[in-house]
Amino acid sequence: MGIAMSRIVYVNGDYLPEEEARVSVFDRGFLMADGVYEVTSVLGGRLIDFAGHTARLARSLGELDMACPVDDAELLAIHRELVTRNGVTEGMVYLQITRGAPPERDFAFPDPATVASTIVLFTQAKPGLADSPMARKGMKVISVPDLRWGRRDIKTVQLLYPSMGKMMAKKAGADDAWMVQDGVVTEGTSNNAWIIRDGAIVTRQLGNEILAGITRAAVMRLAAEAQLRIEERPFTIAEAQAADEAFITSATTFVMPVIEIDGVPLSGGVPGPVTRRLREVYLEESRRTAI
Ligand code: PDD
Repeated sequence: MGIAMSRIVYVNGDYLPEEEARVSVFDRGFLMADGVYEVTSVLGGRLIDFAGHTARLARSLGELDMACPVDDAELLAIHRELVTRNGVTEGMVYLQITRGAPPERDFAFPDPATVASTIVLFTQAKPGLADSPMARKGMKVISVPDLRWGRRDIKTVQLLYPSMGKMMAKKAGADDAWMVQDGVVTEGTSNNAWIIRDGAIVTRQLGNEILAGITRAAVMRLAAEAQLRIEERPFTIAEAQAADEAFITSATTFVMPVIEIDGVPLSGGVPGPVTRRLREVYLEESRRTAI
């Protein structure tokens, strides 16, 4: 694709050049962050962990009493159509569904029989997503208090605090922030947090406090297959700083090594061997099962 060509995006049934795509100023996603989203990565022009993202989307919508405007087959067809039309070989597909645009701003939910939800999808090309410099170098994180709402298991578009966390990290010369509540790590601003200690890989148990990462689930499966010991429990920043290795997982970073936490270097300041292996295995398996 030439750089002058605009993207084709999907809005409520139409494929349009991004300049022509429109959503109402009354859209509840815009006014009230009343919407959910998913991010699916693309490798070799194919979708990674698609079934997992679709299942989580259905759950997020269900928790908010929202219906999905398209069925799973249609969802897959739209994802594929956008990947093809935009010539994406490596990158991601972003999907957002909101409660739509009622005629007036009102806190009460509109009647779904009269107000249709809004569905938007677009691609982001990211050449070098798999073979990223950060995966070779590792990333630095800082800790920040977790000031988000109590239903982080729902993947809503309320991303202001995670954005602020990212900015705090940037300001501190780090790459991301791990959020801490009641003295233990919940998760990263847009990823799940892990440590490796005495041969066991440790990540916080699921609950309302964190998002059930699709990448987290895949890594857990692969780690079990590799006979690694897995502990689903909370950990403190101090325990993480004393760990052998640390990493994050998400659809866009896969398995990404963490080499510094609040200024304390880990695994000699370079990505650890188990993390590197998990990344390799995850990428291999993801490419193999991509659709
Ligand atoms: N973020 N925790 C949070 C708070 C997240 O926002 C994400 C994903 C994850 C990891 O989930 P998964 O492995 O399914 O991507 C955990 C996406 C990538 C984003 O906001 O861009």
